Amino acid sequence: MYEYQKYGRYFAQCAHAMEELVADELVELGATKPVPKYRGVYFEADPEAFYRINYRSRLVNRILAPIITFQCHSDRYLYKTAGKIDWSEFLGVDQSLVINANASDSNVNHSQYATQRLKDAIVDQFRERTGKRPSIDRLNADVWLNLSIHKNRAIISLDASGGSLHRRGYRLDAREAPLQETLGAAIIRLSGWRGETPLVDPMCGSGTLLAEALLAAGNVPASWLRMADKTPVATLPDFDAGLWQRIKDEAAAEIKPLPTDLVSGSDLSTQALDAARANLARLPGSPKPKLTRQDFRTIKSLENVTIITNPPYGRRIGDKGEIVKLYREFGDFLKQRCTNSTAWILCGDMELVKSIGLRTKQRIPLYNGQLECRLVEVPVY
Ligand SMILES: C[S@@+](CC[C@H](N)C(=O)[O-])C[C@H]1O[C@@H](n2cnc3c(N)ncnc32)[C@H](O)[C@@H]1O
Repeated sequence: MYEYQKYGRYFAQCAHAMEELVADELVELGATKPVPKYRGVYFEADPEAFYRINYRSRLVNRILAPIITFQCHSDRYLYKTAGKIDWSEFLGVDQSLVINANASDSNVNHSQYATQRLKDAIVDQFRERTGKRPSIDRLNADVWLNLSIHKNRAIISLDASGGSLHRRGYRLDAREAPLQETLGAAIIRLSGWRGETPLVDPMCGSGTLLAEALLAAGNVPASWLRMADKTPVATLPDFDAGLWQRIKDEAAAEIKPLPTDLVSGSDLSTQALDAARANLARLPGSPKPKLTRQDFRTIKSLENVTIITNPPYGRRIGDKGEIVKLYREFGDFLKQRCTNSTAWILCGDMELVKSIGLRTKQRIPLYNGQLECRLVEVPVY
């Protein structure tokens, strides 16, 4: 009996600063006892809630099912402890495997080396017992494992998501600095937009915010496309195919028509708009929201709408001086031509927030990769 079979206790990995938001989402999907930690949330779930979370969570990057937790002061001990697990309970010798690891503040501080040692322990056990070994497949492995070592505490887990859940399957085309889908979903959730009022992204890039808004308003499970023909939880030893199908059917019955007519976007870049069109067309019903090639500075007015956007950051694309000017002009645009609207803007830093030159109602810290950003709510009266 390993940890997850005994306790039904899991870890939902997410971006830093999203932990509380993730805890709320987990509880909505049926989890209990959420405990937010750095970049993730521990939670408990019965099999039904566990499958629902896997299929429907919009904010979580990976769901991990811990197999074993132990004090790990050396790579030799890592190898020895991993060798005591009966790996045949988790994978077959003819299956492929991938290990993702992170190590920090520990004697074993090198994640690649830690991965190597865990892999050696597994492979050596199979070789001794059967004369054969499972293969490694970094992209399409049958079984995904996760190793985390922090302050010499190691956790080996099954990765029940089979890689990062932000890869929903619709964004095959991406242009400059696209948002991670989980971050896009967090922004939509924080904005409170649920498909009642028009929503506009005037710098829509590859369309991530529009896609996440449509998925959320249509109640489409986040992994609807990703898990259409693959079932990562099926790699868990106690997988219940009937229950999994029931969870998928229950979610399918709750899908509503997407409010495509309420959603629109524009961007300067033709390539970005082509990518956005292709991405959005992969959502259920192949929605074709209005997408226009336009500089926001030439938009006549956007009144009584919700504006949700993520302008260029300055650090990743473009020059800082230019970006400050762009935020100032965007602030002017809001002030002069967006009466009775609310704008939600993901800003690269506080200096850019100030450049908008409008009073903010909320400034919510969020991370875009390593970049600490602020999501600001700007009501325009
Ligand atoms: C950070 S990207 C947006 C990424 C998008 N959220 C996504 O996930 O793909 C910023 C976008 O702003 C666009 N842009 C920059 N200046 C603009 C302007 N003056 N008017 C309209 N779009 C502009 C760029 O072409 C780029 O696609």
